[in-house]
Amino acid sequence: MNEIASDSDLSAELSRCFSPAKLNGLTLKNRLIKAGTFENMTPAGIPGELLQNFHGKLADGGIGMTTLGYCAVENNGRINENMQFMNEGIRPQLTALMDNLHQRGTKVSGQMGHCGGFSKNKKLSRRRPMGPNFGLNALGVANGMFFCDAMKISDIDNMVQAYYDAAVFMKSVGFDAVEIHFGHGYGLCQFISPKTNKRKDEYGGSLNNRMRLSMRVLDAVRRAVGDEYPIIGKISLTEGVKGGLHYDDAIEIGKMLDKGGIDGIITSGGTSTMNPMIMFRGDNILQPMLKAEKNQIMKIILRLAGPSMFHDYPYKEIYFLEHAKRVREAVQCNMIYVGGASTNDSFATLMREGFDFIQLGRSLLSNWDLPNQASQNPSYKSSCTHCNECVATIESPNGIHCTRL
Ligand SMILES: Cc1cc2nc3c(=O)[nH]c(=O)nc-3n(C[C@H](O)[C@H](O)[C@H](O)COP(=O)(O)O)c2cc1C
Ligand code: SF4
Repeated sequence: MNEIASDSDLSAELSRCFSPAKLNGLTLKNRLIKAGTFENMTPAGIPGELLQNFHGKLADGGIGMTTLGYCAVENNGRINENMQFMNEGIRPQLTALMDNLHQRGTKVSGQMGHCGGFSKNKKLSRRRPMGPNFGLNALGVANGMFFCDAMKISDIDNMVQAYYDAAVFMKSVGFDAVEIHFGHGYGLCQFISPKTNKRKDEYGGSLNNRMRLSMRVLDAVRRAVGDEYPIIGKISLTEGVKGGLHYDDAIEIGKMLDKGGIDGIITSGGTSTMNPMIMFRGDNILQPMLKAEKNQIMKIILRLAGPSMFHDYPYKEIYFLEHAKRVREAVQCNMIYVGGASTNDSFATLMREGFDFIQLGRSLLSNWDLPNQASQNPSYKSSCTHCNECVATIESPNGIHCTRL
């Protein structure tokens, strides 16, 4: 493995970035973490060689911790049948994967996801996906799953239990950390957002009520993994839609999670369901998505809904900095930056601004060995052009990949 450039070559901020750091009871060899990017490398929900090669390359490239994107906490939490869900049937494969990645010198986190009422999973154990309210399930239309049902209190209790069980399982197979997904319009976010949560009971209304499920999940996951084990969480700084979550809400959400004992907050933005482009600023993904979509009904839906869903947000480096800093100032826990960090200048800025870790998505897809390269070259820049074509590879049979390599 490459050596880190000597301290005299790197600024104090970069030396901090490339030095070991603690996340609760876990020590990472540097402060760079692979962002959760659903890999689509688990055909029929089974993690195998493809997934191992993907994360193995990242491990060899020097990442402090890699993240298995979207590990559904239960079958009914999957968006489609090619997502893995945490269950005993895949214990041997996951254990082997963890052993391999640990031997290659990286730590591994798993992103705990639940789709709520947004799914096209034909293997659901119930008639429809479930969210806070009865409503349209736009993603499922082509599969004849037009609607989602409202969760009863017993369904909410079952969902909390599913997070608990998944966390016990993930720790036992060797994950070093878990990342709870509170953002991007998925299950927990559907409850947090006033746009999608219209409930009249104690899970709807005020922010406290809309956060009730998320706080129960955090508490359950903590009970499952113990005090020393790192739990991080990804939130949306804004949903970018009228009537949805906005930047000021993110500060309150951050404070609640901090008080609830989370070890680190990742400040992303946007929703996969309503306004995804906020999440990955750069070239508009509508055309690549249309090109990649095989289902004719979904193609028509994309053509009709696309222009009002995929807005233009031109790329700029560290595009969430201003609003992520406001959360930084409000919480005590670790802050994990994500969003357009692709140069050593940006890493140094983030360290200077008080962020503890940095998550990288596209810049790692285009430069597997970014950590090794950047730790040697103070003026390092990733070659990612933020064309966003990788986003449209999310259902590719070979899994996600940079189309420019
Ligand atoms: C191909 C692809 C798949 C993604 N899948 C997920 C996902 O499963 N969960 C998630 O929270 N974010 C997902 N994201 C968003 C990234 O985690 C990250 O927030 C975003 O790409 C911005 O960071 P970047 O500028 O470093 O790429 C995905 C991004 C890409 C490019
Ligand atoms: S396809 Fe490659 S260059 Fe384009 S945004 Fe994705 S990682 Fe970057």
